[in-house]
Order: sequence, then C-alpha cells, then structure tokens
Amino acid sequence: MRRLTVALVERSYPILIGGGLLSRADLILPFLRTPRVALVSNTTVAPLYLDVLARGLEKVGVGITPIILPDGEAYKNSESLNRIYDALLAGRCDRSTTIIALGGGVIGDLAGFAAATYQRGVPFVQIPTTLLSQVDSSVGGKTGINHPRGKNMIGAFWQPKLVLADTDTLKTLPDRELSAGLAEVIKYGLIRDLSFLEWLEANLEGLLARDGELLAQAIERSCANKAEVVAADEYETVSEGGRALLNLGHTFGHAIEAGLGYGEWLHGEAVAAGTVMAAELSHRLGWLSVADVGRVRALLRRAGLPVTGPDLGAARYLELMSHDKKVVSGRMRLVLLQVLGEAVTHAAAPREEIVAAIEACCRE
Ligand code: NAD
Ligand code: GLY
Repeated sequence: MRRLTVALVERSYPILIGGGLLSRADLILPFLRTPRVALVSNTTVAPLYLDVLARGLEKVGVGITPIILPDGEAYKNSESLNRIYDALLAGRCDRSTTIIALGGGVIGDLAGFAAATYQRGVPFVQIPTTLLSQVDSSVGGKTGINHPRGKNMIGAFWQPKLVLADTDTLKTLPDRELSAGLAEVIKYGLIRDLSFLEWLEANLEGLLARDGELLAQAIERSCANKAEVVAADEYETVSEGGRALLNLGHTFGHAIEAGLGYGEWLHGEAVAAGTVMAAELSHRLGWLSVADVGRVRALLRRAGLPVTGPDLGAARYLELMSHDKKVVSGRMRLVLLQVLGEAVTHAAAPREEIVAAIEACCRE
C-alpha cells in the first residue's frame, strides 16, 4: 500500500493507494468519530462494491445508512442533495456520523457537499472508484453540485479525513472512463512534472492495459502533485499560478462540455481537446515549439482521447469560456504552458490568438 499526506495543518489527511483496500475496515475505523456512517454511492457502483465495503465495516461494529443515487452527471444536482439530506435525517444521522463517498467524482462531489452542509458539517471520507476521482477529484476538498445555469456553481471546500483509493476497482471501469482519467494524469506532467510526463510517454500502453503496479504508480505521482499544489493554495486564492494551474485545458474544455450539452463528451475528453488548444495558444505566444505541441497531441491521442474540438465556432467558444470561474473582473485567465512541465496563468493573450488557436484545433 502507498501512503501520501495532504499537508493542511489541522485538516491534514492521508491518501492510501493499493489493491484490496475496500475490505480493509481497519484502515477506515481510526478516522470515524463514532462507529456510524452514511454510505453514499450510485446504482452502478453499489452493486459492484458496496457489499465488500459494508461487510468489512459491519464486522468491526460500524452501523451503516446506505444512500444509493441514480448514476450520472445529470444527477449532480440539488434534488440528489436533498435525497441525501432526507436519508440522513430518516436514518437519525447526527453530527458525529461520517459520510463516506463510494464512487466517481459525481458521487464524491455530491456526498462531500452534503458532508460540508449537513448539520453545519460532518466528517467525510472519500473512496474514489474511477481513475479521474482517484487522481483528482477525491483530493483537495472541492465539493459541490451543478446549477441549471452552470457546472459546479454551488459548492464548498470541505476536506475529507481520509482518501482510500482501491486500484482493484479500476478493473471494471469502462475504457472510455479510463482514458478520461488519463487526461488528468497527463495534466500533472504537463503543468509541473516533466519527468512524470516522460514516464507516461514510456508507460502509456501498460496503463491502458490496466497493469496494477503502473496504475498505482501513476495515481501516487498524480496525488503527490495535487497534494503539493493544494497544500500551497487550498482555497485557490493565489493570483499567479497556485491551484488554478490544475485547470490546464479546462476553460476550453468547459466550453466544449457546455457547447455540446453536458454528458455528450466526458469531462476528461473535453479537457484533452482543451489541453491541445492551450498548447497551441502557448505556441502562438512564443512559448512552446511546434514539436512540443505535437508531443502533447501525440500522448493524448495514444491515451484514446480526442485531440480536436467540436466545431462550435470560435465566437461560441469565447462566449462559453467567458463564464469560466477563473474570469476575474471580466478578464479571462488561461492556464498556458511556458515549457512542457511548467504552467502559468495568463490574462493577456490577444483575442485573435485565442481565436486562431481554437480554429487550428477544431480541424486536424
Ligand atoms: P463519474 O462519477 O460520473 O463516474 C463515471 C462513470 O463510471 C459513472 O457511470 C460511474 O457510475 C461509473 N463508475 C464509477 N466507478 C466505477 C467502477 N469502478 N467500475 C465501473 N463503473 C464505475 O465521473 P468521474 O469522471 O469519476 O468524475 C467526474 C465528476 O468529477 C464531474 O462531476 C466533475 O465536475 C468532478 N470533478 C471534481 C473535481 C474536484 O476537485 N472536486 C475534480 C475533477 C472533476
Ligand atoms: N480539479 C481542480 C482542483 O481541484 O482545484
């Protein structure tokens, strides 16, 4: 088992990564305030993994309120949140009950926001079961739901007490979801870890073949990168760099997700095409070489990800990008690459260069 720490003084917590961890209630028990949990999952993940987790917890005397939600980004909303509150109240869960999220990023974000708000905050444990959630969404305390007018628009920072990533759960993950998770893994290499990028280039086929050891290494290195960034800028308030750098490709990507309608492309797929746009713009600003952009594109393509965006029209991209949460006082701050392995936030890219980068990446 691999162990990392997210260092946030009194809110510090461990990330445990390895095979067979779901049945290890002994790893969870020390983090429960009382032997009482509400286990939030969905109709896809619960039949696969809820039993093994629940049996282990029951064996050590933990009482469980299961809360099973419908599956999908479309259910990351106030209705599902209310279903969680209703079940917590019906189950007489109190302020010492720990909420456990068992699932991908949708369940993690929803259950985390319920934990942040139920009775003004209860303890929370993340048990992520997708690659994306094991390398990104379960770490760092961003929780929330979507609003009809925007994704992740309602939420809170609420750090978990523990992140338990059982790499065996990735065996049942659909190929498309594995690739979507790899987009976020590649992101860490691009923004701050060139040697990890080189390692990914050398080991991508093994990761796609779901080699457990390689996946565990990739998850550990990704989480180590995320933990360092979060420890330095927990609330994303550092104006230059900081936590915002984790959003490489996301401003373009959110435009793709919103422009096509949520759910058409997976988040990681939109981030992949958005990352190519960010790399292309970085080249146009004189930072990346043509060869660097080709390297970004080649790695994402090998990971099974789209490297061109849908042709929404540059004007529509710009309109959708202007709703991004990184827009401050009307200025669009983009995450760009000065060199491979080093990202910056940049608010001065000329509009015509942004348009040219989008147009270059909406055709092969
Ligand atoms: P997801 O939670 O929708 O999971 C993807 C699909 O895989 C779902 O159908 C799910 O039921 C299924 N699934 C989960 N685990 C499985 C398993 N082991 N075997 C088989 N199927 C499994 O999507 P995701 O990619 O995990 O997360 C995306 C969400 O995460 C988005 O809502 C995004 O906004 C959010 N997110 C949050 C953060 C953050 O910092 N909080 C960061 C990135 C993304
Ligand atoms: N996924 C971006 C962040 O956690 O800040």
